[in-house]
Amino acid sequence: MKVLRTAAEMRALRDELRGQPLTVGLVPTMGYLHQGHDSLLAAARAECDVVVMSLFVNPTQFRPGEDLSTYPRDEERDFAIAEATGVDYVYAPQPDDVYPSGFATKVEVEGLTEVLCGSETSRGPGHFRGVTTIVAKLLNAVDPDFAYFGQKDAQQATVIRRMAEDLEFRAKIVVLPTVREPDGLAMSSRNAYLSPQARERATAIWASLQETEAVFAEAGLEPALEAGRRHLELAGITPEYFEARYPGTLDPADGRSGDPILVAVAAKVDGTRLIDNILLEPEHEGSTP
Ligand code: PAF
Repeated sequence: MKVLRTAAEMRALRDELRGQPLTVGLVPTMGYLHQGHDSLLAAARAECDVVVMSLFVNPTQFRPGEDLSTYPRDEERDFAIAEATGVDYVYAPQPDDVYPSGFATKVEVEGLTEVLCGSETSRGPGHFRGVTTIVAKLLNAVDPDFAYFGQKDAQQATVIRRMAEDLEFRAKIVVLPTVREPDGLAMSSRNAYLSPQARERATAIWASLQETEAVFAEAGLEPALEAGRRHLELAGITPEYFEARYPGTLDPADGRSGDPILVAVAAKVDGTRLIDNILLEPEHEGSTP
């Protein structure tokens, strides 16, 4: 496995690969790898000739006051995991190389980025501007055939799909299921912040989504959302949002169309911000359970 530290090294590799009939898979990460990343890396390894993992804690997707400075980092451990998973190249640039002095361009996807995590009461619209700017830069630098993302960040996946389509990136955006701990908690680098007590309470997030799914099948969307929110409240967790949206447009869902519904939640557990979601499948077209 080779580590590339600059955009110039990445470009040189891409130029070298371009002449060969090889498929390239990109797994963008901010490091502190967990089994969710492993599943993306394994899929890339199975589908592509060459696997590139980017490792970059992207400062522009953090709001002032968020956890940029304390975001968990362990490059040596990440390199070892990447190597064991069969990664060929790690692209791990420095912030100054990605955003040199004078850098002034932002990539923004309108409409999908002002709700849920992008709302002012959550991470704000600047969060996704940061995400789409860095992912556009990575897609440009690596020029992969496939780029892999996790369904845990469902809104991010929707936004990146839109951007890739609008800007005509060649890469096929692949979104893979959320990987969970045995008790259901979605794998996240931020789980490392949780104390044992907070870790225990955090299980209420996935449990609240499962409760939502169960009630949805019996009683419909509104009672299901109420049940999910109540479940969180009983665990002492006040969600930043707990909302039903259509996954492609992120428009609010009312459950009348019979289309699948994304129920997405963000909540702080003892100061650690966690997100999760579930896809509700109405039983048949046009049905309101
Ligand atoms: O999902 C993440 O880890 C980040 O948002 C990403 C896609 C690597 C961009 O920094």
